[in-house]
Amino acid sequence: MMHWKDWRNRLVSDPRFQSFAARFLLTRPVAAAQARKAFDLAAGFVYSQVLLACVELRLFELLRDGPRPLADLAQAADLPPEAMERLLLAANSLALTEARGPGVFGLGMAGAALLGNPGALAMVVHHKLVYRDLADPVALLRHGPSAQGLARFWAYAREEDRRAIPDEDVAAYSTLMDQSQSLVRRDLLDFYPMGQVRHMIDVGGGEGGFCLEAAKRYPQLHATCLDLPAVARRAQARFEREGLAGRISAKGCDFKAEAIPQGADLITLVRVLHDHDDAPALALLRSIRAGLPQGGKLLIAEPMADAPGAEPMGDAYFGFYLLAMGSGRPRSSSEIRDMLRAAGFAEAQALRTPRPLLVSLIEASAI
Ligand SMILES: C[S@@+](CC[C@H](N)C(=O)[O-])C[C@H]1O[C@@H](n2cnc3c(N)ncnc32)[C@H](O)[C@@H]1O
Repeated sequence: MMHWKDWRNRLVSDPRFQSFAARFLLTRPVAAAQARKAFDLAAGFVYSQVLLACVELRLFELLRDGPRPLADLAQAADLPPEAMERLLLAANSLALTEARGPGVFGLGMAGAALLGNPGALAMVVHHKLVYRDLADPVALLRHGPSAQGLARFWAYAREEDRRAIPDEDVAAYSTLMDQSQSLVRRDLLDFYPMGQVRHMIDVGGGEGGFCLEAAKRYPQLHATCLDLPAVARRAQARFEREGLAGRISAKGCDFKAEAIPQGADLITLVRVLHDHDDAPALALLRSIRAGLPQGGKLLIAEPMADAPGAEPMGDAYFGFYLLAMGSGRPRSSSEIRDMLRAAGFAEAQALRTPRPLLVSLIEASAI
């Protein structure tokens, strides 16, 4: 017997049914929504490039203080007025900007939201590199990543002596991560209380933004930012600049080759696990388990594949992004909990976060 979904698909792919559904009163809204969805899928790259043009021309910053006339915007962005008008009309259609009167434009809802999220704006610019690698997705699927693109940008994804990666190879990705982490760390710290934590180790802690913000909120907290030596040097310099080096410090460590230090009652992995293939990810969880005392906690914070309402972010965006990077994969919360059990954690629970698109959370206990 034919499955109802096969029957549905046969119907929906029939051009005669499509014309009928577009006209018939009861099916018209569904047909219109499906057509829009299919068009958005096909045109998504063009929308992204409209956004990139807005960001590179600093259009949202130009509109920060209120609407401005077209000619004024064209001059500020050094574009011919006709080109600026074309860009603004495109941006209006995407709610990045909006018309506020004849020849006058202001920020749209999406533009205003992006203006308040410098990390997302930095990622938009970074996508130039990503889209170069994704230009031929079938080649990427067949032959894997090119050594010159994302795999080069993320120096730690290469199989080489990671302790010896030079400072200049980590600067760009560490800065990008720090910018894009700002909302993540705020959400995490608003959501996960650390008033009882004595010593936290943030594994793969980058330039130390999470340790820094946690230490500022919790005066009892001591923290160690653990990352590759070249990244840890950046974090340590920052802690010293901020005058917090007495309570927080950075330590150079290749966690694929060295043990996680003992002494923490909380270990955090913020946007780290998904960067690693299954075998090294499991080895990392085991090493963390060995570093925790009885009752110690591990907090895993990253975008997860089954985040409710944000599914394409997991398997589509991160699935292809990490493929181009050459290491790791998005995992669902239940896959991560299975790995935690295999690594020796007795309990692991998923915690609901306010913005699963940014970050989901799993807390595991070492019992
Ligand atoms: C995607 S970034 C996340 C950084 C930070 N936690 C955040 O959320 O912005 C991954 C971090 O893990 C670090 N890392 C990757 N492999 C590592 C390894 N084998 N040993 C130590 N750190 C590593 C990288 O240097 C980088 O800082």
